[in-house]
Amino acid sequence: MSFLKEIERRRTFGVIAHPDAGKTTLTEKLLLFGGAIQEAGAVKNNKIKKGATSDFMEIERQRGISVATSVLAFNYKNKKINILDTPGHKDFAEDTFRTLTAVDSVIVVIDVAKGVEEQTEKLVEVCRMRSIPMIIFINKLDREGRDAFELMDEVEQKLQLKVTPMSFPIGMGYDFKGIYNIWEKNINLFSDDSKKNIEDTISIKDIQTDELDKVVGAKAANTLREELELVEAIYPEFDREAYLKSELQPVFFGSALNNFGVREMLDAFIEIAPSPRPKESDTRLVAPSENEFSGFVFKIHANMDPKHRDRLAFIKIVSGVFERNKPYLHVRQGKKLKFSSPNAFFAEKKEIIDISYPGDIVGLHDTGNFKIGDTLTEGEIMIFKGIPNFSPEHFRYINNADPMKSKQLEKGVDQLMDEGVAQLFTLEMNGRKVIGTVGALQYEVIQYRLEHEYGAKCTYENFPAYKACWVKPEDPKNEEFKEFKRIKQKFLAKDKSGQLVFLADSDFSIQMTQSKFPTVKLRFTSEEI
Ligand code: G4P
Repeated sequence: MSFLKEIERRRTFGVIAHPDAGKTTLTEKLLLFGGAIQEAGAVKNNKIKKGATSDFMEIERQRGISVATSVLAFNYKNKKINILDTPGHKDFAEDTFRTLTAVDSVIVVIDVAKGVEEQTEKLVEVCRMRSIPMIIFINKLDREGRDAFELMDEVEQKLQLKVTPMSFPIGMGYDFKGIYNIWEKNINLFSDDSKKNIEDTISIKDIQTDELDKVVGAKAANTLREELELVEAIYPEFDREAYLKSELQPVFFGSALNNFGVREMLDAFIEIAPSPRPKESDTRLVAPSENEFSGFVFKIHANMDPKHRDRLAFIKIVSGVFERNKPYLHVRQGKKLKFSSPNAFFAEKKEIIDISYPGDIVGLHDTGNFKIGDTLTEGEIMIFKGIPNFSPEHFRYINNADPMKSKQLEKGVDQLMDEGVAQLFTLEMNGRKVIGTVGALQYEVIQYRLEHEYGAKCTYENFPAYKACWVKPEDPKNEEFKEFKRIKQKFLAKDKSGQLVFLADSDFSIQMTQSKFPTVKLRFTSEEI
């Protein structure tokens, strides 16, 4: 197959959802269609159950599983599908944000009864800002839920999206009869037997015919006719260009658990979803079809074996062909590296590959060379943009609890920060180290891993900050900036890359600071997203 065809047939995407909306179940059903797994239940539930937050074994289990399910690849109708795992638990939200830099589109799962939830809002906001094409899957139609129109209204308002339904439910919950596929103009009748033949659809070319009444009953048929009329009046027709620009979001309805409505979505997905998209670097826009290889690290995973401090760096290939044993430039370090056993991912397995194409993810064994955001090229000096740090929400001083092991502690903290587990801030005033995390769980992960992987011990002490604001003075030499630095001295720190950060203790303080020092801009991310 030609290089361009290989690119064209790739679909690299993430499934995002608020926990419990059905992300894991949907992912599993998608894999079933690809024949990548034989039965339901094969994709382990990659999430931390509520109430298990202080269970170290649970954290370890989570880490183990998430290596296996970081990338799930399979072939479906001659398309190569790469699903990138995005943890739903909010303490791992940063991991999800970073993974979103490597996807070309997303599927957003929404629970029909709960509607738009908090995590959905946050994740969709990031996708919207980056113009990532989104498909919405409204799940759990077998349960009593909210009215379809009301839900779509909520999606439009809360998520600031413009939607158009591609399928429409016939009834819901106890009365759920099936789904009318607006895209294919046919009806898929619901039976709650998940082993039901997936080809079991009834083609209805014209919804005005009696055929519809016979199939779903007169009452449901009339309701459907009215609703479809309303759909036509309210929503724009699907327009692929608008979807690709993230200006229009198609909506599908279904029940992942019952494997219902999933095939319809997958079939539409492979038709409309984008193949690998060009990516902006600090110097230029890089197209997938370029001959020279380039890629970037969006995730680093420590190996489970603490005796070999080996890590797996996940690279998204942006352009060209990645080849085993070929030297590539690690741009930040300015040195060439060769990889003798790059991993490709297939379903839940990983295997060594010789060659990979744009859109694919390769896992490279790493002994500490990589950090998140690093770029690899064939020689060109450029860095891919768009992998910012987000402001943490928890802050604690980290103290060394074993003075004999200070080197180990330093190294451990350094490497864990490169992995993106948390962020390290060094206070300007006294050089003390503060660790910022998105969720409190992270502190336990760090303490545990420092001890088990690096032989170092740490304790924490509260640091009264609320948000980290990256400081961007309009003019670093002006008096206002000097004054800002003098007054806020106690709250200023450097992040790991040396950028100045203001650790604010409240929203009020951020507002006051901003109005007092208008030329000193404060941002909640380390770079624009
Ligand atoms: P997540 O990854 O988004 O967190 O959600 P997950 O797929 O684990 O699904 C959350 C719960 O919702 C699971 O039930 C799952 O079985 C259920 N679920 C998913 N899709 C549907 C659906 O279409 N209809 C119905 N009725 N339920 C659905 P659980 O009891 O929390 O977990 P489990 O014990 O069944 O694994």
